[in-house]
Formats: sequence, structure tokens, C-alpha cells
Amino acid sequence: MGLPASVTIVEVGPRDGLQNLSRTLPTAEKVRYIELLAASGLTVIEVTSFVSPKAVPQLADAAETVARLRNFPITPIALVPNLKGAESAVAAGVRTLNFVLSVSTSHNRSNVNRTREESLAELAEIVALRGEVLEVRVRASLATAFGCPFEGRLPIAEVLRWVGGVADLGITEVTLADTVGFGNPELVRQILLACRERFPGLSYGVHFHDTRGLGIANALMAMQCGVTVLDAAAGGLGGCPFAPGATGNIATEDLVFLCEEMGVKTGVELARLCEASRFLRTVLPGVDLPSRVLRAGPPKPRGPLVG
Ligand code: COA
Ligand code: ZN
Repeated sequence: MGLPASVTIVEVGPRDGLQNLSRTLPTAEKVRYIELLAASGLTVIEVTSFVSPKAVPQLADAAETVARLRNFPITPIALVPNLKGAESAVAAGVRTLNFVLSVSTSHNRSNVNRTREESLAELAEIVALRGEVLEVRVRASLATAFGCPFEGRLPIAEVLRWVGGVADLGITEVTLADTVGFGNPELVRQILLACRERFPGLSYGVHFHDTRGLGIANALMAMQCGVTVLDAAAGGLGGCPFAPGATGNIATEDLVFLCEEMGVKTGVELARLCEASRFLRTVLPGVDLPSRVLRAGPPKPRGPLVG
């Protein structure tokens, strides 16, 4: 199985990484962090979420954060759980929305206090909003697609059902998310092949948490299956506050290292990315950043091993 020539890394640290911390980073430090991420070459960054400030107080400054990013050379993405969030995000200037819906009933309830059908109805309203505001792009992230902290492994048919649900609304970009690291490379292969076979017109991204140590292996398999859009969080921070046992995303440093060493272009300069994470370390003393490459340091410059 081959690898793509290049991939787009969607940096989710400012959203997924910061939402699960016990303290809240001041807006100015978030903005500096995003600036450093952008300086490393990351161009697609999920910068915040427009959710209830009671549910996620760490990101209550979403509109202010977005306002301060206006001149940054990035495509900012905001996670939204409902129409209200989508409207606020668009009003703040965001043009790419990431709507979250869980494949499992229990996690959708725990995360957004809705049935999956109710969430899909919200998505339909957001899609209608898209008709009114030019150039709003809506992606859908399917949480717990590889397993749920409450319900365990879910049938692939259930994943297909909700991919179909969002596709029926005209969504063409779907991210399959492993919220608590239940996935393994074989499951990744099976789910991606099943999705492709049933819905060949969609563009698939992946979002892996490294909860059980298979995150990078899963990312490699996804790329071997042709996926070219991968979420990752600088330093390996992350986790859903509404999923018991959640831990960090795959670290962007580790993903960049994997890709570049194998000849897959990311456009990201590893040494500068490590600087962004080291900044985070200084403003979040005591917070563990599990990225292996960050700990070990980027490799000495040399040619790629392959390609
Ligand atoms: N942004 C800000 N406030 C919002 C909001 C949004 N997107 N959606 C709802 N609210 C506010 C309402 O205005 C209302 O405020 P009030 O109590 O001052 O009147 C309150 O939240 C309750 O509204 P309701 O529609 O009943 O929401 P809920 O209590 O059923 O909660 C969510 C639903 C989706 C808002 C909430 O569960 C949530 O924000 N979850 C966050 C999920 C998340 O970020 N998970 C991690 C990433 S996957
Ligand atoms: Zn996540």
C-alpha cells in the first residue's frame, strides 16, 4: 500500500487541546500559541469552539480569539455543536465550521445533550444557514466512530448510517473520530473501506486520540488507505471532557515526523512546531505534553528515507 505525496494536517490543539485542561489560558496566550503554530507552517487550525461556556469554560472567549486572528495566514476552523454555535461562529468571522455528532447515542447525549436525530436536525439548520452566508464551509466530525466510552465498539453499519445522515444533508467532508482511542489499524482500514464503498463521493478525514497507544499506527493506516486530511494536536494534548477516560490527540510533532521521514509532505517545519509546544509548556507549567518527538527533539536535518 502506498502513501500520499502530501497531507493536510488540521491542527486541533487550540480547541481539543485546551478544552480538557483544568485551567483556562488567557486569550492573549492562546493567540500567541496559534501564531507560533502558524509560523511552523500549519495552515488549517481549529482555533476554538462555539459551545456553551458552562460546558467548556476554557473556550468561552471564542469570539475574542477569532477576532484577534484576523490577519493570520491560516484557515481558522471552529467546532460547533448546534445552530446557536454556528451563528456565533459565522458572526465572529469563521468560515469553516466543524459540526460534531457522535455515532453513539450515549456519547452524543453526554457531549451535546441531544439525541443523534436532534443533532442531525441542527445540522440541517446550519446547512440552511450556509445558503444565506456566502462561502461557509461545513464539515462533520463523527465522534466515537471507532468505539464509545459508554457503549464500547459500535457496528460499522452504525457508522455508515450517520455518515449517510450527514451526506444526505449535502456535507461532503467527514472526519471519522476516535474519541477515546478504541481504534486499531485493521478497524481503521475496515471502516474507511466501508465508508468509501458506500459513499465514494465524500472526502474523509481522521481524528485519532492516542489513549491506548495506537494513534500513530492508526494514522499510518489511514494514509495507506488514501486519507490526506489528518487532525493532530501540538504536544499531544487533548481529550473530550464528556468522554470518561479521554486522553490526548496524536501529537502533531509525531505525525509530522512520521510523514516527513517517509517522504509525505506536510509543509510543517518540525523545529518551529516544537517551539510552539515549548511556548505552551511555559504558559502551562506542570501540564504534561506527551509528544515523543517534542521530548526527544526533532531529528538533525537530512534527506528523507523514502521517496
Ligand atoms: N454557545 C454558547 N452558548 C450556548 C450554545 C452555544 N453554541 N448553545 C446553547 N447555549 C446556551 C444557551 O443560550 C443557554 O444559555 P442560558 O442557560 O444562559 O439560557 C444554555 O446554553 C442552554 O441551552 P440549551 O440549548 O438547552 O443547551 P444544553 O444545555 O442542552 O447544552 C450544548 C447543549 C451543545 C450547548 C452543550 O452541551 C455544549 O456546549 N456542549 C459542548 C460540547 C463540547 O464542546 N464537547 C467537546 C468537543 S467534542
Ligand atoms: Zn478529539
